Amino acid sequence: MPVSSPVSSRTHCPPAPGRVPFLGHGPALLRRPLSFLEGTRTSDPLVRVGFGPIGLLLANDPALVHRLQVDTDTFERGRFFEALAGNFGNPLITARGHTHRQQRRTLKPSFSRGSVRDHVEVIGAEAETRLGGWQPGRVVAADQEISDLVAAVVLRCLCSTELDRATVRDMRETMYAISRRLLPQTLLPRVFGTVPTAGNRRFAAAVNRFHRTVDRLVQERRADPERHHDLLGALLAARHPETGAPLTDAQIRSEFLILLFAALETTSTSLSWAVFEATVRPQVQRRLQDEADAVFESGPLTYARLADLTFTRKVIDETLRLHAPMLFTRRTRREVTLAGVTVPEGAEIGYSPRAVHRAADLYDAPRAFDPDRAGPDDGTDRPRGAYFPFGTGPHRCVGEHLALTTMTVALATLAARWDLRIAPGTGRIREVNSSLPHLSGLPLLPTPRG
Ligand code: HEM
Repeated sequence: MPVSSPVSSRTHCPPAPGRVPFLGHGPALLRRPLSFLEGTRTSDPLVRVGFGPIGLLLANDPALVHRLQVDTDTFERGRFFEALAGNFGNPLITARGHTHRQQRRTLKPSFSRGSVRDHVEVIGAEAETRLGGWQPGRVVAADQEISDLVAAVVLRCLCSTELDRATVRDMRETMYAISRRLLPQTLLPRVFGTVPTAGNRRFAAAVNRFHRTVDRLVQERRADPERHHDLLGALLAARHPETGAPLTDAQIRSEFLILLFAALETTSTSLSWAVFEATVRPQVQRRLQDEADAVFESGPLTYARLADLTFTRKVIDETLRLHAPMLFTRRTRREVTLAGVTVPEGAEIGYSPRAVHRAADLYDAPRAFDPDRAGPDDGTDRPRGAYFPFGTGPHRCVGEHLALTTMTVALATLAARWDLRIAPGTGRIREVNSSLPHLSGLPLLPTPRG
């Protein structure tokens, strides 16, 4: 197959299914990326995917997928993260080793359990106002409402501020556009996206607006004499790991932007899927309601009481299994033998959380939504690396507690207030291609609970 560097001819790895002469996997990738990536998971631990001059190995074996994430001596972030970071002025997220550890030290306090615990009240109040305040019997675009809620929560936690609805919606559209472009940016030649088409120009203008919004936040904060203990405060106080210099406005902007992206896209998409899965399953919705009633009966939610929302948490865990990101990458830092294949330094290796999470050899009825499915801590004999919604190893998600807390509070608030159903007359709700597949829409009809 016509895969040139960086995968050398010494690699004897079978091609992924779906390849056609001359064009490799290009047509399958462009036409049906979701089913294509799921279909790449064969019994071979490592397969090749190729399109024109770009070649990628794809890891199928959970143990291998696990190693890609934890063995940072051998693997660094690859094309996916470079494509992502390129949209944001190359923040430190793609850094490695000492620089990366320093960056995490700057970020972590803002996302620790303690810090998230302090935010539970804010999250509960936002959820109550935004989701509890829907008009009975009036159809709501729930995916947009959920995005607005998550944006409000994340902005409050990251920079103790609020933005007007129009700005938040504009930011959301831009992030969505970035998310949609990530897969082609990762898998297609770099020239993609640089051709001055109308679409690319619109995209560049939207990214610039996004930059200006964050620049304004940074300038306002610099002018504010009060000290804030949030992420923006931490970034302003941070020193560059190599030079010791404070971060420039441009550096703060890129760090801040990528965090907004990492937080908003993932949390709002996952929460929308959780609401969808519960709405189309009356029994699941009823169990969520019973649980929420019991917990809210003794007053507003506190961090400690979140532990009582066990079924709510199972719904979220199962959502994160079924609706996982399409593809992440790593790049080899040295020659290494993987599943009997010699892989040279500089080779790109992808892995698909979505494909692994939906694998028939790892999960019974893998495409079914089953919140009662045994989880990773329930003594299953599923291998390590079969479930990793927040990744694992040194790059494990820093926002995990914030994301889980936001989703749990929001889902419980909805369950306590409303009987939800998909608005009558809605066509099929589809998955839309994106680095984390979105819903095509979520029009809901809320009825107050009796
Ligand atoms: C449902 C919501 C979320 C999901 C499913 C998710 C998923 C992930 C995954 C899988 C990774 C690991 C990527 C890798 O191994 O290369 C990751 C990393 C990361 N996430 Fe999240 N995330 C979510 C929410 C958040 C939130 C709320 C924030 C921040 C406020 C955040 C910030 C980050 C950052 C900064 C990293 C990079 C960590 C590093 O490289 O050291 N994420 N996330």
